[in-house]
Amino acid sequence: MRLLSLHTCKPGMRLAKPILDEEGRVLLGTGVELGETLLSRLKDHQVPFLYIMDERTEDVDIPDMLSPEVRQEATRLIRTHFRRLMSESVKTRMFSRYELGSDMRKLMDLLISDLSQTGNAMIMLGDMQLTEHYLYQHSLDVCIYTTLLGMKSGYNRDELHTLGLGALLHDIGKTKIPLSLLKKPGKLTEDEFAEVKRHTLIGFDILRQEPNIPLLSAHCALQHHERLDGSGYPRQLASGEIHDYARFVGMVDVYDALTRERPYRAAMLPHQAIEILYMGADKLFDLDKLILFRDKIAIYPIGMEVKLSSGESGVVVDLNANVPHRPVVRILSDADGLPLSAPYEVDLSNRLFLTIVEVCGTPATLSGMNAEKSPFVSFQDQMG
Ligand SMILES: [Fe+2]
Repeated sequence: MRLLSLHTCKPGMRLAKPILDEEGRVLLGTGVELGETLLSRLKDHQVPFLYIMDERTEDVDIPDMLSPEVRQEATRLIRTHFRRLMSESVKTRMFSRYELGSDMRKLMDLLISDLSQTGNAMIMLGDMQLTEHYLYQHSLDVCIYTTLLGMKSGYNRDELHTLGLGALLHDIGKTKIPLSLLKKPGKLTEDEFAEVKRHTLIGFDILRQEPNIPLLSAHCALQHHERLDGSGYPRQLASGEIHDYARFVGMVDVYDALTRERPYRAAMLPHQAIEILYMGADKLFDLDKLILFRDKIAIYPIGMEVKLSSGESGVVVDLNANVPHRPVVRILSDADGLPLSAPYEVDLSNRLFLTIVEVCGTPATLSGMNAEKSPFVSFQDQMG
């Protein structure tokens, strides 16, 4: 199977991995043929990538971060509680919040158990899911990535619970911000941005009243937009004033936002998003956390089309956990772009004279491009 950006997918191609609905159930199964209508519907839902069947890479398997049952249960619980918060009245408040904490703790138990079985896996682009509110999938993905980083840092189960809950619920305050503001395609006005920023304070307020949520998790909601140099919000905290857990969540939150489709720009590829984060090393984000994250991410995910410095092109078919930027590539075309009759594999971890120069038809590095002025980076990207 191959991983293609949606705009390069053509009618007649077949899905190699299912697309899930917002309950985490299979909406479009493996093998479904893409038609014009389906492609434009997926575009409307801002699906950035699709796993497509391809006979030259049909033996390549792309592992899921979570088992389907756990993903389904996680999506169901997140959706139920977030929707309830969006529509709750003062009368139902205490009831819904009590369940929120206990359900989210149960969910973290499930996630930690599931992730500890696949904890060595590299972080891949998330499953494709169509949801009415991007917040559901964003919350789950930020939680998965952050929990894996906590595991890599040697956190015990209690610490993982607190960190994971903080990540899962970091944006819960957005349930109280009008959707029209969160989805606004253009630039927000100063007043609108001030309103969106309130989600940190609202989230803290919701979580700190919940007996089943540690206060430290509530602080992740409050502090996840604070930055080391004091340029964040809501309180312009700096360095040591920001809790370590909130620093993890803040970094992963921006990564996830960058790798998602936005109305005003295409989703960034993992290596591009990491490069943008690195521009803020020790200014916005801790360098040691960035290194930990970089080494845990499949910068060039399995299934992705790459071009090598030799001019040959192929598809990533396996990852090297110790050198994530040097995966195994199956060469499918020669330097003139002609398909090979006998594809072969090169392991870039022991072919150091070869580098990846293009990913999915885009340069493998942003160097040379003025990223400061890039449309990729705007303050709305920092909203997470
Ligand atoms: Fe946020």
